[in-house]
Amino acid sequence: MSRSVPESVAELTRLDTSPGTAIRDRFPLLATCVYLNSNSTGAVPHGVEDVLAHYWETLRSWRDDVWQAWHVSLERYADGVAAFIGAPPGSVVTDANLSTLLSRIGSCFDYRAPRNRVVTTDLEFPTVPFIWNALARYGAQLDVVGSGTPQFDEDALEQRIDERTLLVCVPHASYSSGATIDLARLVARAHDVGALVVVDAFQSVGIMPLDVTALGVDFVLGGAHKWLCGVGTAFLYVRPDLLPDLEPAATGWQAGDRALTFQPSTGWAAGAQRFAGGTPFPLTSLVSQVGLDLLAGVGMDVIRAHSLACTSRILTRADAAGIPVVSPVEPHRRGGVVCLDIPDGESVKRRLAERNMICSWRGYLRIGPHVYNTLDEIDEFMDAVEQEWRGIRR
Ligand SMILES: Cc1ncc(COP(=O)(O)O)c(C=O)c1O
Repeated sequence: MSRSVPESVAELTRLDTSPGTAIRDRFPLLATCVYLNSNSTGAVPHGVEDVLAHYWETLRSWRDDVWQAWHVSLERYADGVAAFIGAPPGSVVTDANLSTLLSRIGSCFDYRAPRNRVVTTDLEFPTVPFIWNALARYGAQLDVVGSGTPQFDEDALEQRIDERTLLVCVPHASYSSGATIDLARLVARAHDVGALVVVDAFQSVGIMPLDVTALGVDFVLGGAHKWLCGVGTAFLYVRPDLLPDLEPAATGWQAGDRALTFQPSTGWAAGAQRFAGGTPFPLTSLVSQVGLDLLAGVGMDVIRAHSLACTSRILTRADAAGIPVVSPVEPHRRGGVVCLDIPDGESVKRRLAERNMICSWRGYLRIGPHVYNTLDEIDEFMDAVEQEWRGIRR
């Protein structure tokens, strides 16, 4: 059953006093707590229960041609993600998680010196250095540009990218500190010296605008279970003109040109499908389609405006209470989270959770509002944070 999607920020920020119109009604999780944790796991909307029931029905009455329909569904989700990030149909492929897809990118190159360096930062999600260090056995040389602060050192990063750089692998927004990166500047520098750019956008797609075509970025990775309000699937965008020259060694039969005929393939599948692996798991794309459609219906402009209104409120409250903020403050550099530097933040997070106020801690207290949160919720949450802060300072 489809329900109406709000058209304005005013409608979105309205408390749940208007059942049937407010987006909040679509997310049952919000009735159980103040949920400001979408940077960790996004709320999942109504509609998913129907998908799950239908899936069970499919399994219960199994016929072999179900696979045809499932392939259409997988493609629909991948193309929906593509549209969401300004990419053409066929340029996105999905798999179980970001790590699998990043390893597949890594398996395309031969890492012959002198161009064998992978430039990255010290603000990566742990899977990124783990994967590139594993590829050291094939000659990849990881070059970590550390800033020693919660922000990226973009000058140092730019300087370290040179003719020895094969790939630059950075996040669009840091999972721990919320710092964001100027991708346009980075892509320009990398392309100047013949390097390719891989962006881990797990912490941005769904909450920050990202137009991969306008940016000219080469690879973009992300996933469903945070800002995209889905579950259990990740995606990879590959710049279409690069595809013919990329041959992943970590592969599987679904990447071949004859996968659907069950005949041995003679070449690669068209588009980003050449980055597929083995038999896919369609349920996660089917489930995640619900959240993706909802967000696409709201539109990135509305989502971003509401996100900025929410993070501004958190910043104003933190400033008034004297709580140190480590994430970017200027609106154009802000991501979806505000990160607070609170001593023993993990215990603070736990005590907040005991009061049904949900956020996360990864070295900093991360507060991640989404399009379904209200400013009243943020005030309620920040009242509790302020009490914690005063307790710590006493
Ligand atoms: C920036 C970032 N990259 C990657 C991941 C996860 O990667 P994977 O899907 O491989 O578990 C996360 C969080 O779960 C993340 O915050």
